[in-house]
Amino acid sequence: MIRTVLCDMLGIEYPLIQGPMGPFDTSDLAPAVSNAGGLGMISHHLPADVTALMLGGDKQREAIEEVKEIEIRAIHKVHELTDNNFGQNFRASGARQPDVPHLVDAMLEEREKNPEIKRKLKLFISSAGDPAQPHLRKVQDYGMLWFCVVASAYHAKRAEDLGVDGIIAVGNEAGGHIGAAPFSTLVLIPEVVKAVKVPVVAGGGIADGRGFAAALALGAKGVYMASRFIPTIEMTAHENVKQYFIKTGERHQREPATIVTEGLYGPCRHVRNKYALELSELTEKEKRGEATLEDVLRYETPRMFRASGDGEVDEGPIWGSEVARRTNKIQKTKEVIEEIIEEASDVLKSLQGFVQ
Ligand SMILES: Cc1cc2nc3c(=O)[nH]c(=O)nc-3n(C[C@H](O)[C@H](O)[C@H](O)COP(=O)(O)O)c2cc1C
Repeated sequence: MIRTVLCDMLGIEYPLIQGPMGPFDTSDLAPAVSNAGGLGMISHHLPADVTALMLGGDKQREAIEEVKEIEIRAIHKVHELTDNNFGQNFRASGARQPDVPHLVDAMLEEREKNPEIKRKLKLFISSAGDPAQPHLRKVQDYGMLWFCVVASAYHAKRAEDLGVDGIIAVGNEAGGHIGAAPFSTLVLIPEVVKAVKVPVVAGGGIADGRGFAAALALGAKGVYMASRFIPTIEMTAHENVKQYFIKTGERHQREPATIVTEGLYGPCRHVRNKYALELSELTEKEKRGEATLEDVLRYETPRMFRASGDGEVDEGPIWGSEVARRTNKIQKTKEVIEEIIEEASDVLKSLQGFVQ
């Protein structure tokens, strides 16, 4: 049994939050995590026409409505699949995500309409953008807790000054979009813990009980894990992707299994595949002024679900962390969480033996 202040704050058994994995669907994974004692997170989806959402134009309004409907459906689905608490993430990256103010309102409305949803949908996590946007803090007026994802102690302090209830500090090892300043988790967490008074949750490269114990040793009050849940039965991803993911370590024994490219919201860590290498070349060209942002979007967005949805593992993104290489089988979410908690408890107990 491992308990910290995070368990009391969020009403959960273990101090473990599942990292959201938008635009991929986590509405089966989130209730599985919550049912297993952690806090499951609903992810921020994208509309079919991503360029309309991001580049504006007449179709932008339709794209926003489409995402709103998907998010509301996900809230209801997760509510039906668990009696435990869960959370929701939106990537608040300003002009790139003009849907966020509308989605925050829709989420709060759903909570107001249904007391059970209000009780369970407890945490809002903002990421990928400036926490000073006024529609973000609004969630606190409706009784939700607001945590903010950061990648530096500077940004953690800034978010605390804006009134967040908790900080999620994610190091450079993480899968998906990462901070522009590449601090490793080992360096980042103690700095953030020192910089703020609110509870800090550690993410980035945590995939087992040893990582969990290390995060607590660094001063975090809990962990934030996403990539570790990709090869689970409940993660909505094509079986080919899960198989590709668990063979990552075998394929890349002498080199990192992931690469970082510029992505829709800045640097993004992918498991190596043809798509990631091509995107990397294109974004390098963009930096040299030989391609435009629109060229990048037009490469990236139509391919977004080619791997996760269609199973074409070389044709679309497989975002994942450096610890993707540690997973080698597809498991039930509950089993993953039980193994991690057991291992973390054993590690923490065994460390006491070093103290004389
Ligand atoms: C497939 C994938 C999609 C992600 N999408 C989002 C997202 O929509 N919003 C967000 O805040 N973080 C997103 N992330 C980042 C995770 O929530 C989390 O910060 C990070 O993955 C933690 O590191 P780990 O992968 O080593 O566990 C994503 C990560 C992955 C692997």
